[in-house]
Amino acid sequence: MLDLEGQGVRKAFISGLGGYVPEKVLTNYDLEKMVDTSDEWIRERTGIAERRIASKDCATSDLAIEASRMAIERASLKPQQIDLIICATVTPDNFFPSTACQIQKALGNNTAAAFDLSAACSGFIYGLSIANLFVCSGAYDHILLIGAETLSKVTDWEDRSTCVLFGDGAGAVVVSPAKGESSILSVHIFSDGQFSDCLEIPGGGSRNPCTHDSIDKRLHYIRMKGNETFKIAVKSLVNASVAALEHNKISAGQIDLFISHQANDRIIQAAAQRLNVPAEKVVINLDRFGNTSAASIPIALWDIERQGKLARGAMVLLAAFGGGLTWGSALIRW
Ligand code: UT7
Repeated sequence: MLDLEGQGVRKAFISGLGGYVPEKVLTNYDLEKMVDTSDEWIRERTGIAERRIASKDCATSDLAIEASRMAIERASLKPQQIDLIICATVTPDNFFPSTACQIQKALGNNTAAAFDLSAACSGFIYGLSIANLFVCSGAYDHILLIGAETLSKVTDWEDRSTCVLFGDGAGAVVVSPAKGESSILSVHIFSDGQFSDCLEIPGGGSRNPCTHDSIDKRLHYIRMKGNETFKIAVKSLVNASVAALEHNKISAGQIDLFISHQANDRIIQAAAQRLNVPAEKVVINLDRFGNTSAASIPIALWDIERQGKLARGAMVLLAAFGGGLTWGSALIRW
C-alpha cells in the first residue's frame, strides 16, 4: 500500500453519506412459497430474515441516484461540484455506458469523470482506495463513491442455495479533503484470481455470450460454491482487518465499530471473534437487507448513522470479501 503518512500530503474524509433501499420487502416466509426452504434454515444458516427487492422497471442507477443525492446534500455540496463518480457494482444498468455515467446524467453533472468498478462485494472498499488516493494526491476534491446493486435481477429464483441470500440497495459517500480530525486512515485491497469460480455469473459476457442455450442453462444467474467461499471469507476478512490494525499500530480494542460486508452472520461473528472485537461493536443489518454485495458496507454506514450510532471521532473498521476473489479493509476516524 502507498504510505502517505508524514509526506505532507493532504488527507481525505467522508463528507457525506446516503443510502436507499427499495420499498418491497421479501421475507423468508415469502421464499418458503417459492423454493424448498424454511425461515428457520435461512435464519440459522445466514442470519437473514428479509431483504429488499427492486421493482421490474427499477435499475441499479435508480437506487444509486437516490443514495447519491442524499450523500451530496449531506456533504453540503451541489452535484456540479463532484469531480469524479465511481460506481461499484456487479449489476450495472448495461455493459456500457457505465452506470456511473447514468448517475452523472441524472444528477445534472457534466464536468466529472465517471466510471464503474468491478470487484464484487469488495467493490466499495476498492472504490474507497481509489477515492482516497485521488483526494490525497490533489487530483480531485470531491469524489462520489457509490456501491449499488439490483442482485434480484441476476438471482436464480429456482436455486434455493443462492436465492435466499441476496437483496437490492445502494449506499453512497462523498470523499473530500479532510479539514479536522476525521479522515480515512488506511485502505488495503487484495485479490486471488485462482478462486474465480467460487462465485460468478458464468454467462452473458464474452466467455459465454448470451444465447438461447446459455439462457436455458441459466448461465446468466449467480452461482456460488457456498462452503468453499465461506471458509476463505472468514480468513480473508481477518487478514484484511489485521493489515489495517497493524498499519495503524492499533489494537482491536481501540475499534469502536466493526462493519463487515453483510454476507452471512456466521462469517461476520467468526471473523469478529478471531479479531477479538466484542459483539456489541459488530454491525449487523443483513437480517433486514440480506447480502447487497458492493452496497452492503455503505448501506450499513447509512443505516447506523440514521440510528444515531455513528458518532464523529469513532474508530470504524470496514472489511469486505467477495467474488474474484477480492477482499480488503479500511480504517476510518469518522
Ligand atoms: O457475498 C459474497 C461472499 N459470499 C459468501 O461469503 C457466502 C458464503 N457461504 C455461505 O454463506 C453459506 O455457505 C451458505 C449460506 C450459502 C450455505 O450454508 P451452509 O451451511 O454452507 O449450507 P450447505 O451449502 O453446506 O448446505 C447444507 C444443506 C444441504 O443439504 P444436504 O446436502 O445436507 O441434504 C443443502 O442442500 O442445506 C441445504 N440447503 C438448504 N436447505 C434449505 C441449501 N440451501 C438451502 C435452503 N433451504 N435455502
